[in-house]
Order: sequence, then C-alpha cells, then structure tokens
Amino acid sequence: MLYKKYIYKLSTEDFYDFIVEHKEGVEILSEGESFVEFALYRPLEGLEPIGVLEVEVIPPERAFKPVKVKSLMVLPSWLKPVVIRQGCAFGTGLHPTTRLCLELLQDFLKEGWSVLDVGTGTGILALASKKLGAKRVLAIDVDPQAIEECQHNKEENCVDIECLKAEPKDIKESFDLLVANLELRIFKKELDNLLKLFNKIAIFSGIYGKEELLEFIKLLQRKPLKVKRLEGWYGIVIKA
Ligand SMILES: C[S@@+](CC[C@H](N)C(=O)[O-])C[C@H]1O[C@@H](n2cnc3c(N)ncnc32)[C@H](O)[C@@H]1O
Repeated sequence: MLYKKYIYKLSTEDFYDFIVEHKEGVEILSEGESFVEFALYRPLEGLEPIGVLEVEVIPPERAFKPVKVKSLMVLPSWLKPVVIRQGCAFGTGLHPTTRLCLELLQDFLKEGWSVLDVGTGTGILALASKKLGAKRVLAIDVDPQAIEECQHNKEENCVDIECLKAEPKDIKESFDLLVANLELRIFKKELDNLLKLFNKIAIFSGIYGKEELLEFIKLLQRKPLKVKRLEGWYGIVIKA
C-alpha cells in the first residue's frame, strides 16, 4: 500500500518542543548540530513540509519473517508452528500430498469444527487442524509406529488431539471435517466407510495423475467441490 510521507525540518529546540507537545511517534531522518529532519505519515497544520514522498508501507507479515539461528527458530506470532520429529512415520510436510491437505484445511476448516484425520502418520494434519481452531481432533492410523509418532508430536506441540490405532470401519461417529491422505488403492477399499464419517466437508489426497483422478471421481459418484493440483498430485474436496 502506498502512503504519503511528509518530511519536516525544525530547529533542535522547536523539534523537542514539538515532540513534547504532540506526543506522537516520528521518524528522525537526520540530526544536525542545530536542526532535526523528521518524517510523519500525516501533514502538520501550520508547518510546510520540505518534501513529500510516496512510500510503500510493508505489512508486518512481509517485514517480520521467521529467523533461524543455529538450532533456534524465532517465529512471528501470526504463524502457527507445527513441530514434527523426523521419525518412522509419513508426514513431514515435504510431500505434495501433505501440502495439498495443509492448504485445503486452511481453505475449508472452520473454527470449532470436529476433525477426523484418517492415516495420520506423524499426526501433521491433525496437529495443523487443532492449530487452525478445530475443537476436537481424532487421528487414526493402522500402523502402530505412526500412532507412537503422532503421540510424540502431540506432546511436542502441547495440543490436545486423540491418536488411535484404528481403521475407518472402527469409527462409529461423524465429524464435521474428514481429511484422508491415502492412496487410490486404499480409497478403493475404504471409500464407503470414509463417506459415513463426515457431515460437512471431506478432503482427500494421495491421488496421482489425471487417470487416477478420473478413477477416484468415478468412485466418489459425486461432483467435487474443489480439485487442487500440486506437482502432479491432486487434492479433492467434497461436501456431505
Ligand atoms: C501418505 S501417509 C499420510 C500421512 C499424513 N497424514 C500426511 O498427510 O502427511 C498415509 C498413512 O495412512 C495409513 N493408512 C494406510 N491404510 C490405512 C487405513 N486403511 N486406515 C487408516 N490408516 C491407513 C498409513 O499407515 C500411513 O501412515
């Protein structure tokens, strides 16, 4: 966004009188022995600026970036960190299928919703859901090692999610949002069960290439709400 920046020059004495009187922040541009040049983002009544510049004001999210210093990472408060141990489970955030889910969660998940993450791996999508404002999150996986990783990462992130060794048919309740990053082979086996487990939105990922996408959509027997592509992989969103 472009703003006007008004530049003024006052004697040192007048400048400090001005500061005391107006009690507002100014940007000091230069200080000589007997004068101060300073700038404000509004014109001052009764005082002629020595210059007016059009400047771009950088929004805080562009100005304050994550800072890594050796093993320390300093993050601005509007970023939501998800900490993942490099263990034996899938889900570090590097794979396009995971990133598609992370993006689609941010597009569709509403604060206060309940979330079921099927095939949680490290728990990355369950943890992200919680950080994005989900009320209750259940993370399931058939692999006991994944559940161990999910449990570890849950503690590391200090969030309250449930990690359970289970498959879709074991779950007897319905969630507002279902997220499942699996594979076409597994969807073919599990889709009927998965479709019973959500009442608002489902996000599916793990579909590679156009052929798999067409096969998956045929399997779904409904029109997707959104299809997103990343490096040849597809994320598919449907409504209940
Ligand atoms: C591709 S990984 C996804 C991990 C993580 N959710 C992510 O998005 O990065 C798929 C996970 O699904 C699990 N899985 C495979 N078949 C499953 C099934 N029938 N029910 C539950 N989990 C299953 C695997 O053990 C694996 O951890």
